[in-house]
Amino acid sequence: MTQTSDQDRVLIFDTTLRDGEQSPGATMSHEEKLEIASLLDEMGVDIIEAGFPIASEGDFRAVSEIARNSRNSVICGLSRAQIPDIDRNWEAIQHAKRPRIHTFIGTSPLHRAIPNLDMDQMAERIHETVTHARNLCEDVQWSPMDATRTERDYLCRVVEIAIKAGATTINIPDTVGYTAPRESADIIRMLLERVPGADDVIFSTHCHNDLGMATANSLAAVEAGARQIECTINGLGERAGNTALEEVVMALRVRNDIMPYRTGIDTTKIMNLSRRVASVSGFAVQFNKAIVGKNAFLHESGIHQDGVLKNVETFEIMKPADIGLNEDNIVLGKHSGRAALRSKLKGLGIEMGENQLKDVFVRFKDLADRKKEVYDEDLIALVQMSEDAGADRLALKRLRVVCGTEGQEAEMTMVVDGEEKSVTSTGDGPVDAAFNCIKAIFPHDVRLQLYQVHAVTEGTDAQATVSVRLEEDGRIVTGQSADTDTVVASVKAYVHALNRLLVRRGKTGTDAREISYKDVS
Ligand code: KIV
Ligand code: ZN
Repeated sequence: MTQTSDQDRVLIFDTTLRDGEQSPGATMSHEEKLEIASLLDEMGVDIIEAGFPIASEGDFRAVSEIARNSRNSVICGLSRAQIPDIDRNWEAIQHAKRPRIHTFIGTSPLHRAIPNLDMDQMAERIHETVTHARNLCEDVQWSPMDATRTERDYLCRVVEIAIKAGATTINIPDTVGYTAPRESADIIRMLLERVPGADDVIFSTHCHNDLGMATANSLAAVEAGARQIECTINGLGERAGNTALEEVVMALRVRNDIMPYRTGIDTTKIMNLSRRVASVSGFAVQFNKAIVGKNAFLHESGIHQDGVLKNVETFEIMKPADIGLNEDNIVLGKHSGRAALRSKLKGLGIEMGENQLKDVFVRFKDLADRKKEVYDEDLIALVQMSEDAGADRLALKRLRVVCGTEGQEAEMTMVVDGEEKSVTSTGDGPVDAAFNCIKAIFPHDVRLQLYQVHAVTEGTDAQATVSVRLEEDGRIVTGQSADTDTVVASVKAYVHALNRLLVRRGKTGTDAREISYKDVS
């Protein structure tokens, strides 16, 4: 491994809670955001972008509380290039041990046209807003949105203005995932060479993955001199997502011989965070996803298996344990006791009090009676179900589905606010018939935006994990559930989402996605 110096330390800026949460349907609850922030802090993330405080009351509350609870990470909030945005941002983050204001404006011709500012007017706006931010906070990050499609001379000019006004970090976003590695590096190199004062600030890279090059573009920017990478867990984010934290961090670790840079991330926490983010965002990780996908360390072909058995390095460039993937190979079954369950959960990074453990144990026994082997993924699904229990207005009591070539019919009993209600419905398939029962028992008008089924483990007795995303008047909620019966898992996931919707009904405030980045005038 090559020796690295302080100059080769790359800061990891995680924006799962801001850019990640902006991906349609990835809305997280207040408690979930606090939990993810705490895990990111514990993992060693240098800067956590906790949200967009002006976007909604909910965002403001989440950013404020994350700031108050912060331990080591810098806590950053996002604001447009407007004084009230910046003030609201500061109000939310000022209690952090180390607060940072992030402010941005779209500088490319397409983005300048929206607020109808010419180059000089925009330059003036940048000077005014960055100066204002710096008067509030010592740590100010400025981003020229759509930097990669901004005229190079103008980019140099506005970066210089932001540095002179007091920005301490200059972030270069590839907002639409348009750049390629060589260009990404050229832009950073050009700014470092041409902009006066460039040596006194940190350059950062923020890449979207529209052409599948986000990670490569981020690493190329680092090789050219950027010392901060903006990224999200599992690459969550708008459209095709952002640079994935786990990819850049592991690439820098595994290929330290050719990329001699280091981060402060405890990589053994990666797997746990990936699972939590997948669960709370409702965005399952694709099986073949680099680093954290279910297949990332599995070997199927005979030649590969044989090689791995003789020398694991023949087909593995990193160890599962490096990312905290549990390798104990202990599979729990119906004879396993509470101590084994507790120890297994601990190995998965999940610790809980006696009461919750009791609840998870009951669920585990029930599952183990129906399924020969209970895998790590099954346990994680059970823990998630137990965490959500207790606050449910609606609960499935009984379901019987008849399906086959003669048509589909579902009979359902649900408990609604303590009262049992039963119906029978038909539908276009067993899941549709079951969902029609829910609608008959509890009439509601929502749009089913997403219905996704995954087999958590292999075999015909595998648990199915179902994710459901519902939308009502712009409010988006997700629900998940797991069961060996796919229709039961589907109904429970739907009911889970509906329960969350009922909690969110009545809460006011604009959703983060309703606020426009373009509204900068
Ligand atoms: O992609 C982007 O340009 C952004 C900015 C707000 C930094 O997310
Ligand atoms: Zn972005």
